[in-house]
Amino acid sequence: MMNNFKRTLITTALPYANGPIHIGHLAGVYVPADIYARYLRLKNEEVLLIGGSDEHGVPITLKAKNEGITPQDVVDKFHGIIKKSFQEFGISFDVYSRTSAKIHHDTASEIFKKLYDDGKLLEKTSAQYYDEENKQFLADRYITGTCPKCGFEKAYGDQCESCGTSLSPTELINPTSMISGNQPVLKETKHWYLPLDQYEPWLKEWILEGHKEWKPNVYGQCKSWIDSGLQPRAVTRDLNWGVPVPIEGVEGKVLYVWFDAPIGYISATKELTADWEKYWKDPETRMLHFIGKDNIVFHCIIFPSVLKAEGSYNLPENVPANEFLNLENDKISTSRNWAVWLHEYLEDFPGKEDVLKYVLTANAPETKDNDFTWKDFQTRNNNELVAVLGNFVNRTLVLTQKYYDGVVPECGELTETDKRTLTEISNIKADVEKSLDSFRIRESLKNAMDLARLGNKYLADEEPWKVVKTDTERVKTIMNISLQITANLTICLEPFLPFSMNKLRDFLDLGKLDWDKFGETELLKAGHKTNKPELLFEKIEDKVIEAQLQKLLDTKKANELSDAVVTPVKENIEFDDFGKMDIRVGTVLEAEKVAKTKKLLKLLVDTGTDKRTIVSGVAEYYKPEDLIGKQVSVLVNLAPKKLRGIVSQGMILFAENADGSLVAVSPEAEVKPGSEIK
Ligand code: 2FM
Ligand code: ZN
Repeated sequence: MMNNFKRTLITTALPYANGPIHIGHLAGVYVPADIYARYLRLKNEEVLLIGGSDEHGVPITLKAKNEGITPQDVVDKFHGIIKKSFQEFGISFDVYSRTSAKIHHDTASEIFKKLYDDGKLLEKTSAQYYDEENKQFLADRYITGTCPKCGFEKAYGDQCESCGTSLSPTELINPTSMISGNQPVLKETKHWYLPLDQYEPWLKEWILEGHKEWKPNVYGQCKSWIDSGLQPRAVTRDLNWGVPVPIEGVEGKVLYVWFDAPIGYISATKELTADWEKYWKDPETRMLHFIGKDNIVFHCIIFPSVLKAEGSYNLPENVPANEFLNLENDKISTSRNWAVWLHEYLEDFPGKEDVLKYVLTANAPETKDNDFTWKDFQTRNNNELVAVLGNFVNRTLVLTQKYYDGVVPECGELTETDKRTLTEISNIKADVEKSLDSFRIRESLKNAMDLARLGNKYLADEEPWKVVKTDTERVKTIMNISLQITANLTICLEPFLPFSMNKLRDFLDLGKLDWDKFGETELLKAGHKTNKPELLFEKIEDKVIEAQLQKLLDTKKANELSDAVVTPVKENIEFDDFGKMDIRVGTVLEAEKVAKTKKLLKLLVDTGTDKRTIVSGVAEYYKPEDLIGKQVSVLVNLAPKKLRGIVSQGMILFAENADGSLVAVSPEAEVKPGSEIK
């Protein structure tokens, strides 16, 4: 092991328990972490792979509310699904815990309390938006409004997704609560802050000077955060779901989910072993955080500052964060069901865990975002797993059965090609190690597959099926060497394809070998009997892929349909309330753009009883000439309002598409202007 470390603690980002696991999670975090952990275990190093569900936070409370169940119900359900799917897929966690567990609440409280008691937190009262109808403070993401910079009407309280500016909720024009749709009010509230600004000099030293070896995407993000100046961060929230703030007299406040979640790694280790401090506090333990890129600031800046403030814990040695995986050219989205869900994959592709592991590793988003396509999944399975690895192994084992009844033949005198081939095994081992040791997992898989390619080339060059007819001694050597390559494969590919290598070891009747043995050329002794093989991988047919694509197409269609009705139904009203609205059919007589505005049209409308001016915000969707002569629905008794100096008498009704575009609501057949709509 590098430096003076004796053991490794690997943590994997705790997935939110408000949805199942999808291929994006797997490719970014769990598959690479699992490969790395399996590799270290094969090297007989002491290692722990830690996981668990992240069960707090506002989205979980909203999901519960929408479904009329408790947050605990939500997380119980998804924690169950997630845990089971990880286990079936073979992510080799030493422990998979959860943050609603008592041990976690205790651990997170203790750490908060220690910071509080040691005076490491700031107490501050500020005015924050509050939804009076739902009686709750609003997280920044749950407030929308108009961006003060670009005028985009659906900016979030923390960021405008149109112009990218980061915002604070009070900067929004016309703020609206996404929970009730009402305008929130400002209300004073007290919170505790971690003064990140005080940790800035230390973070500069520790990361920017001390960890130049971190991946460029990770180092770059840290540098940009630090360079733009760190601010105190609130570590508590007004919410009733989470770890209660452990200060006397404080009610209705919990620890911020991003404060308690990484502490979940500690609680999980405690759940696993009484000897947990060895993994967290002994400087001879190397800690690694496997995460996706959206988690970098929390794992490289905030959590380390918490640990530093606490004072007795180790800091991460490396944080090999990955970029994102897209699906068929679209961002993976839990809420839009745009994903390949692990539990569904396991059902649809029984026994093919390794195929998914392989494809996600071969195409891992290590340095940039990547795309998962079902076509690529099929191609990699058919052209790489079947045609390269499966083909080599199968030919070797079948020929051994055929020529020697499965018994490993003696190795005779080696030719130059034999020697070169055997040396190459060690070279490949060195390559795999080099890339794995620097977390280039995708490259390491390619290196590992080179061993199967080497085997295929050796068979193709030596042609044992021809030599067997002329030189029965020579063919024994060729087959012995092919079998040694096969045995080496069981070590080399074990971290990447554990299910398949298990099978392969069964075919060879070989036990699991340590990484140390990789490179040896007598792993199978002459006279050892191998078993009858089956196919290690099978071709995936077009129809299987088409079915998966159809499933995605169905999702797309369903999304399009539901996009049309995204606005929640408002509260019920009495008929009298409706009766107060006087809506009539009018005919647009004239239309022109209102000068110096982008959105406004000035219309003259015949409402049957009069001809009146109405200003309408539809200039982006209708040219004036397109509206002239059109029959529209008009709310005629809306109190007049002055817009840009023009008095608008009434309102024309439009239907709004998901993208905000507007379409006039018109009678299906022509009616007399002034006809009532009721
Ligand atoms: O981004 C997420 O899915 C978070 N639930 C990750 C938390 S990682 C750690 F802090 F627990
Ligand atoms: Zn903007």
